[in-house]
This record gives sequence, C-alpha cells and structure tokens, in this order.
Amino acid sequence: MSSSAVLRRSLAQVSEVFSLSDAEQESLATPSVPLTQKSGGSVSFQSVAKVYASSSGAVHALDGISLDIPAGSIFGIIGRSGAGKSSLLRTINRLEKPTGGRVVVDGVDIGTLGEADLVALRRRIGMIFQHFNLLSAKTVFDNVALPLKVAGVRPAEIKQRVTELLALVGLQDKHHVHPRRLSGGQKQRVGIARALATRPEILLCDEATSALDPETTQSILQLLRDINRRLGITVILITHEMSVIREIADQVLVLEQGRIAELGEVWKVFGSPQHDATKALLAPLQHGLPDDLQQRLQSQPPASGHYDVVLQLDYNGEDGLEPDFARIAQALNAQTRLVHGGVDRIQGHAHGRLLLALDGAIALPALSNLTQGPQAIAHRIGVLGYVV
Ligand SMILES: Nc1ncnc2c1ncn2[C@@H]1O[C@H](COP(=O)(O)OP(=O)(O)O)[C@@H](O)[C@H]1O
Ligand SMILES: [Mg+2]
Repeated sequence: MSSSAVLRRSLAQVSEVFSLSDAEQESLATPSVPLTQKSGGSVSFQSVAKVYASSSGAVHALDGISLDIPAGSIFGIIGRSGAGKSSLLRTINRLEKPTGGRVVVDGVDIGTLGEADLVALRRRIGMIFQHFNLLSAKTVFDNVALPLKVAGVRPAEIKQRVTELLALVGLQDKHHVHPRRLSGGQKQRVGIARALATRPEILLCDEATSALDPETTQSILQLLRDINRRLGITVILITHEMSVIREIADQVLVLEQGRIAELGEVWKVFGSPQHDATKALLAPLQHGLPDDLQQRLQSQPPASGHYDVVLQLDYNGEDGLEPDFARIAQALNAQTRLVHGGVDRIQGHAHGRLLLALDGAIALPALSNLTQGPQAIAHRIGVLGYVV
C-alpha cells in the first residue's frame, strides 16, 4: 500500500470516530506548519547497534552509539569509508532499523511507531543524496511536487508551495525544465527543494556535495546554512570533505568501525584531533611542508656558517590564543619570517600552523615557556629543522 493510502486510511478511521468533515480531513492531511517556525528536530541515539547479515558473516556496522543532536543545529558525521556513517544516518528516518538500542526523535522512540506514524515521521525528515535521485522523466516542478502529491495536498496549494520552494533554492525560472538540462548544483537544489516540500524539521544529507565541483559545493553549503538559519531545520550531514564540516557544522562526530572515535564542537575536535582516524581525515587540511623546504631542511644545524632555524607554531583554538607577530618577535627576541602556513577560523577560534624562520645565530628562549600562561604565543612550539 502506498504511503498516501496508508495515511488516508488512518485519516478515514479517525474521521469516522470523530465525524470530521471533508475539509477537516483535508487539513489534517495537509502540512500546515508555517515556514519559519520549527520547534522540533532533536535526535537522540541510545546505545544504537546495527548488525548486517552478509554472506561472509555478521557485519557490525554500528556498535553502541549514544549521542544527542540538538534541534536546530548542524551536525556533521565523518569517518572512513565503511565506518557506519550512512547506516547511522538512515536509522533516523528508519530506512535502516537498528538491531539494538533506540533512536528517539523529539522525545519519541521511533522504533515504537506503527506504519502510519512512520509515514508521518518521514514527512518531518527530508533527505538529500549524492546522486540527487531525481525522476528524469518529470520536470523540476513535478519532482518537487511529488512528496506533496503523495501527502494528498490540494493542487492549488502544491503550486504555491513548489513555487515558494523553487524560489528558496534559486530555481524560480526552472519549473518546466527536465533534470537532464540542469547542472549538478541545480539538480541538488531540486533535491533540496523536494526534501523541504513537507516542511521537515530535520534534513539528512548523505554526501550531498560529493559529486559537485568546489565552487558549486560552496553554493550548496551556503544554501544549507541558510535553510538551517532561516527555517530552523536541524541539518545532519555526512561528508568526506573536511572543509564542509569546518565551514558549517556546529558539532562533529567521527565514526570509526561503528563506534564513536570523537565527538564535540568542530573547533575543538578539529583543533586538537585525538584519534588516528580524525588525524588521517584532517591531514588534507593541514598546512604541510612544501617540497622545496622539505628538501632543504636539515635535522641538525651546520657546524659553521649562517643558517636559519625553522620553528613550527600550532594553534588549536583554545583560550582565544591567535598568532600575534609583534608578541612572537618579542618572545623570541628575534625577527621572524613567515615561511609557510596559515590560520583558519572555525566557529571564531583560530586554528592552524605557522612555520617561521629565524636567524640561527640568535639564542632561542626555552620554547616550553612560550606555550603556557600569559606568555603563550602558540599552543605548541617546536624546532622543525635548520636551513642553510
Ligand atoms: N545492506 C547491507 N548489508 C550488509 N552489509 C552492509 C549493508 N549496508 C552496509 N553494510 C556494511 O556496513 C558497514 C558500514 O556501512 P555504511 O554505513 O554504508 O558506511 P559508510 O557510510 O561510513 O561508508 C560496511 O562494512 C558496509 O559494508
Ligand atoms: Mg555512506
């Protein structure tokens, strides 16, 4: 039975009991939450486990996941391929049924929901995908209208809602276009509009920007952030692009072999990653050593002649500490040259690495004194090597 039939049947039963008029039935079938007001959207995982049976034996995809996602936040999920990210995400709308534990959405254990309630739940949870999953034979308008049709919304209201949604995602001039005529970014915008059609409180994104070029990724991220801020929708996103998390997520979960490797505010997790999985994932964001410098760098100073010392200063976002060149020069009692590196701001916290060159003839102070207390000029300082 289709989801709309299920809903209609349950509505028919309700209206029999309460003698609802046709109009009242219609209003029940029609989402009527105003565009800007969202109260729900929280998700709580409680000891969630997922074991798949496969020909080569049981696969423990999720193992004892417990965490809370606050309503209205942007929550990032990262991890190596096969870590269990998609499995976890798909338990939220019950595309995957956990084999242990509970998933609680806005205080309701969704494992207890019957079929009709599950249909209603899925309407409150939109989802977008890496490959957009659009119907190629249908126009942009019809793709976005589909969930509304299934929900039994009146045609006039569908027209109004789809028009509003296509304007929201910047496709107001594409109503009658077919997906094959759209760019990847435009297709994902259709996917987003469709996901928002039933005014969900939660938007699930599984690698939603992975098929897009960097510039388009930026514009889709901007849109997701905008949707989160303007509509108050909880956005839960999986991505392998760490820059995506750095830019828009409030909290990040690092999954490793179905378990929580790290969890917390993005600036904290990214500022001082603890787990090997996190470090490996973040490596592309590091300001690594450029090749030419790497080749010239020596582990010992030369016996004679002029040389430079190269210092590495790391910033992890704690305590408002940022690179301050005047203080650095003063603390080191030397002129410094910035050789390489940079600082990113994550949620207002400076995070990054600087490589500084100093004249090797100058005596360095004890570096360990420069990472603590009011004297601190960085969170970590070390001698990287020497260049002649
Ligand atoms: N339907 C399935 N049947 C059997 N194994 C599965 C199924 N779906 C996922 N898995 C396995 O579960 C683990 C986690 O998969 P998945 O959640 O897709 O990870 P990710 O999204 O992090 O790449 C992997 O080992 C994967 O092979
Ligand atoms: Mg996946």
